[in-house]
Amino acid sequence: MKMLNFGSLNIDHIYHVDHFVTPGETIAAASLSVSAGGKGLNQSIALARSGLTTYHAGCIGADGIFLKTLLEERGVQTNYLRTIDGVNGHAIIQVNAQGQNSIIIFGGSNQAITPEQVDQSLGTLSPEDMVLLQNETNLVGYIARQCHKLHIPVAFNPSPISQELLENFPFETVSYLLVNETEAERITNCHDPEDVAAYLLARYPDMKVVMTLGSKGAYYADRDHALYQSAFPVNAVDTTGAGDTFTGFFLGLVQQGYSCAEALRYACAASAIAVTQNGAAPSIPTLDMVQAFLSKRKQEFAQIRT
Ligand code: RIB
Repeated sequence: MKMLNFGSLNIDHIYHVDHFVTPGETIAAASLSVSAGGKGLNQSIALARSGLTTYHAGCIGADGIFLKTLLEERGVQTNYLRTIDGVNGHAIIQVNAQGQNSIIIFGGSNQAITPEQVDQSLGTLSPEDMVLLQNETNLVGYIARQCHKLHIPVAFNPSPISQELLENFPFETVSYLLVNETEAERITNCHDPEDVAAYLLARYPDMKVVMTLGSKGAYYADRDHALYQSAFPVNAVDTTGAGDTFTGFFLGLVQQGYSCAEALRYACAASAIAVTQNGAAPSIPTLDMVQAFLSKRKQEFAQIRT
């Protein structure tokens, strides 16, 4: 069983600022760092770090070769990755004093996936495998439809959400939908997690709905179960990539046989660790780090109760 992630790979330019720049304003950044990112790449690293066999498919430019090397160093298989002539995708990220971010992406190589590349890669999968998609590459609708024809389950993180996606994406092909509160509201016009799940499950009864709730934690629902997991309070320095870390750990662990409740707890812990570190890909913890974090929290909780 393996995960094939058709996803973006970005070069992140991260500027630490006092506040997000406003219209007409020029501000000086306190620091600049350049590191690996892209929702796809981040999620692949988190999947591999959870212990799942993970393949990343997508496109890089010549300036993005280091992204391939990084994926390989983090245990992700890259034989479905293609190098193209154009420039690599990149992101301009402002991180403010509260650790929140504001992101502009430039698609570049992430928009160069071809139907032939999709068909070739999917041809190597079986229905026990799974394909993961986000909305930072081209052809997401095509990939989802092809998977459906081949009976390959699809996990979809519709991020960043767009009107085009809402109008054209075949949500009926999705087995796992992983959304934040904004994405959930754009798709369903509902805010409360239970209402979001009710809306989606009425239309797609086999769907598994996973919703991140920021500082409130996360929620999971399918036709038989619904459960909440609270967030683990930490001092956030940079929230970039925290949602990707959650997605990768949740799916990776569920695919390895963890219960949804356990996978939700581990994913919340992994994203809590991620926000305490700068950067997207560099902040993704290992499974050992997540386990150590959870056992420390358990001991602290036991001490409070005694
Ligand atoms: O989710 C965080 C990611 O969004 C960043 O790494 C950036 O590249 C953008 O894709």
